Amino acid sequence: MTHGVIGTGSMGRILVEAWIRSGKLQPSELLLSNRTRAKAERLADEFPGLRVAADNREVARKSDCFFLCVKPGEFRKVLEEIRDVVREEQIVVSITSPVMVRDLEEWLPAKVAKVIPSITNAVCSGNSLFIPGSRLNREDREQLWDLFSAISRPLLVDEEHTRIASDLACCGPAFLANLMEQMADAAVEETDLPREAAVSLVTRMAQGLGRLLTEGNFTLKSLQERVAVPGGITREGLHLLERDTGTLFHDLFRLTHDKYHEDINKVQQSLFPEMEKKV
Ligand SMILES: NC(=O)c1ccc[n+]([C@@H]2O[C@H](COP(=O)([O-])OP(=O)(O)OC[C@H]3O[C@@H](n4cnc5c(N)ncnc54)[C@H](OP(=O)(O)O)[C@@H]3O)[C@@H](O)[C@H]2O)c1
Repeated sequence: MTHGVIGTGSMGRILVEAWIRSGKLQPSELLLSNRTRAKAERLADEFPGLRVAADNREVARKSDCFFLCVKPGEFRKVLEEIRDVVREEQIVVSITSPVMVRDLEEWLPAKVAKVIPSITNAVCSGNSLFIPGSRLNREDREQLWDLFSAISRPLLVDEEHTRIASDLACCGPAFLANLMEQMADAAVEETDLPREAAVSLVTRMAQGLGRLLTEGNFTLKSLQERVAVPGGITREGLHLLERDTGTLFHDLFRLTHDKYHEDINKVQQSLFPEMEKKV
């Protein structure tokens, strides 16, 4: 079975590497294309047997299932290029949240799904978000679920929740890394602790925290309660955090959703320029 990847940038590469390193796919089962061909060739050089196609049309023609790993603004160009070689029995997966499944179904005769990966999938961890289209049968769903189970924990998500789920699973690592960096920087500024030590402390702490929450029988709540003994320093710190973070995350999610709706409109105008806004 051939799995195609159109677009071997950051996410396309992560998927290819994770599937091969996890042993889920052999390099010879993957066929790649990328606008800048040299980028796909560099990836292929790392895994003997991995093939680079002449163009996107070859990937679309020769794959049983292929992934569109380009940015939303590139979709129309790619869809125009591959449209007339895509077949009904193929599975086509978009990894991009603002491209609607029903719009892809209008463009392509194939079985369409959206699966949004996360950078955490690079270490076969974290979630992927699974949004199947209307043409996938049970076997198709199981096949995709199985593929993503090798590198992540897939989560079935309604398309209307794609943005918020992506905020948590896909943007979340960057958001938390930013907060951790601010934590380390403040520690250095307040106490002259060497920066290297501060970064190591927050990084190793996060690694342990992840394991406690996933393997250590802790919930977010029970973990806070366990560390914050009554009258202790942590409890006072948690009070300050609750007071000062205020509406921060509400504001953050409103911002991501505003941008998401703008992106959806832009994508729909590019895919259906003749139509009024569809959402
Ligand atoms: N980054 C994340 O954590 C994340 C998580 C989930 C989903 N996503 C989604 O994944 C998508 C890709 O993101 P990314 O971070 O991988 O972006 P990226 O690093 O910019 O990769 C996009 C790739 O698409 C290639 N490309 C552009 N137009 C093409 C065309 N016409 N034909 C073939 N290849 C083409 C680009 O080629 P060139 O080498 O020529 O530039 C580039 O390698 C985005 O829509 C994003 O929303 C990202």
